[in-house]
Amino acid sequence: MIDVAAVQKGLKAKIFGKKIYAFESIDSTNNCARTLAGDMTPEGTVIVADYQTAGRGRLGRPWTANPGENLTFSLVLRPGATAEGLNLLPLLTAVAVTQAVTQFSKLKPECKWPNDLLLDGKKVGGILLESTQQQNGLDFVIAGIGINVNQLNFPQDIADRATSLRCAAGRTIEREGLLRCILEHFEQLYIAGRHDELRSIPQIWLSHAPMIGRLVDVTSNGSVLTGRAMGIAPDGGLILATPAGNRTVYAGDVSVRFIHPSDPAHAPRN
Ligand code: BTN
Repeated sequence: MIDVAAVQKGLKAKIFGKKIYAFESIDSTNNCARTLAGDMTPEGTVIVADYQTAGRGRLGRPWTANPGENLTFSLVLRPGATAEGLNLLPLLTAVAVTQAVTQFSKLKPECKWPNDLLLDGKKVGGILLESTQQQNGLDFVIAGIGINVNQLNFPQDIADRATSLRCAAGRTIEREGLLRCILEHFEQLYIAGRHDELRSIPQIWLSHAPMIGRLVDVTSNGSVLTGRAMGIAPDGGLILATPAGNRTVYAGDVSVRFIHPSDPAHAPRN
């Protein structure tokens, strides 16, 4: 099980990680975080589990991870009643995890819109934000984060699309140290973001996102929109240049088109 004292030892964050609930097994850390947030647990509370029996990902998909090898955790956020930059919080979270992984392991994950982290083109982490609306505005937001840390083998259906930090680094990565590092990066970005309503987040995110400039297919509700990824709108949407003009999308799955060097479109022109 995650050693809470080891995470908190030397932790430089003041809000995130002051309170950590660690479980050997739980249905979903997002569920637990939601219950605790409803019971007024303070902002920055962390719920981490070695294993989730009903971990969930975006678009109702399951999130599976071997017991004791990975990081599956949730953060309780109270970003304020209006939460201007709510759509930017997933991007902030992705940047925090990316920066922390790079600092801690020297690996350099890429961000893929809306909230995937990739290494060598394969998924190494995912983020699921869930918010609760009250009549008078936003009550709390749960940021759920799953990172494949030390898992070496993946179920057959995702084996060609998933990887872990250990697969990429060729060594085991200490989970407690990585979690501490993520909490520190998250807090820094979150506090800075409070001052500028997360206005600087799209720019920072773009510096970790090589998909920008590439031709992509965005699948949403069964329909596919193809265009060149141009950037991130101030509200977190992905701007696509399509034959019909610029379009901004807010949800969906992105696949980046791989263009083979032998493609005639890429042959050198004399
Ligand atoms: C995705 O890529 O679809 C998002 C995956 C998010 C998974 C994390 S693991 C911790 C937290 N608890 C959950 O049930 N889901 C998130």
